[in-house]
Amino acid sequence: MQSFSTASSLRKELTALRNSGKIVGLVPTMGNLHAGHLALVQKAATQCDVVVTSIFVNPTQFGPNEDFESYPRTVENDKALLNDAGSQIAFIPSVEEMYGDMNDSRTVIHAPAVSKGFCGDHRPGHFDGVATIVAKLFNIVSPHKAYFGLKDYQQFLVIKQLVTDLSFNITIVGVETIRESYGLAMSSRNNYLSDDERSKSSAIHKSLTKCQQAILGGDLDYATLENNALEFLTDAGIEPEYFAIRDAENLQMPNQQTMGLVILTAAKVGPTRLIDNIRFPLPKP
Ligand code: PAJ
Repeated sequence: MQSFSTASSLRKELTALRNSGKIVGLVPTMGNLHAGHLALVQKAATQCDVVVTSIFVNPTQFGPNEDFESYPRTVENDKALLNDAGSQIAFIPSVEEMYGDMNDSRTVIHAPAVSKGFCGDHRPGHFDGVATIVAKLFNIVSPHKAYFGLKDYQQFLVIKQLVTDLSFNITIVGVETIRESYGLAMSSRNNYLSDDERSKSSAIHKSLTKCQQAILGGDLDYATLENNALEFLTDAGIEPEYFAIRDAENLQMPNQQTMGLVILTAAKVGPTRLIDNIRFPLPKP
């Protein structure tokens, strides 16, 4: 696998590949790769000739009291995993390469309305940081397709809207969530969990599937279902931030036109903040 640390050297390589007719796929990551990230790379490898994976812990999407400094950085191991999963190119820029001196006068993308609520409320500025770095990566790589995990569902919707609104000629592909055997969605932040916290964390996925079963069983009292789930999580020793049943298209409250639902939750297990969701079509009445 080839590795590049500057936009100019990567661009040069990719221009040649695109000119020779190769389909280029991009998988943006922050590294510390696990099977969830690798599922994106594997999917990209089935649809593209060249898979570029970026590894960049993006400072502008972390709040002042978040884990930017301590976020796990495991680049050498990541490169070996990427090579095995079928990525031909890694892009691993420095903060300076991406942002220069990071001054406040730089251009920032204002994330669309779907970034409001949920993670957007609990992490002010987060989705502007995500939208800005992803747009920069799109401009540097100019991929035909880009791959994002449905685990970060609000992020996925933000990126889809970004591509429409800013007229990027890129197909966004969503990839299903990869989970631990006991249900927890894989995340680099799972590394922070103690054994006790790990076992408590299985309640997160359980809260989602319990709620889904209730809805599919005919219970459409969403407000009560949300409250029950919050109580279930609290009883399991977890501190929920939100638990919400929404229209999967736009994260609005479900209405007569709603075809599919997403149930979204974020919760703190000890000091570690985890997110998860499930999506499913609504049965016709
Ligand atoms: P990161 O958390 O490293 O995730 C990179 C990609 O992997 C995202 O699209 C995320 O949704 C996907 N992913 C993570 N865990 C997954 C799992 N268990 N199953 C399936 N996909 C999973 O998300 C980011 O980085 C950043 O915000 C980024 C988009 C790179 C911008 O900085």
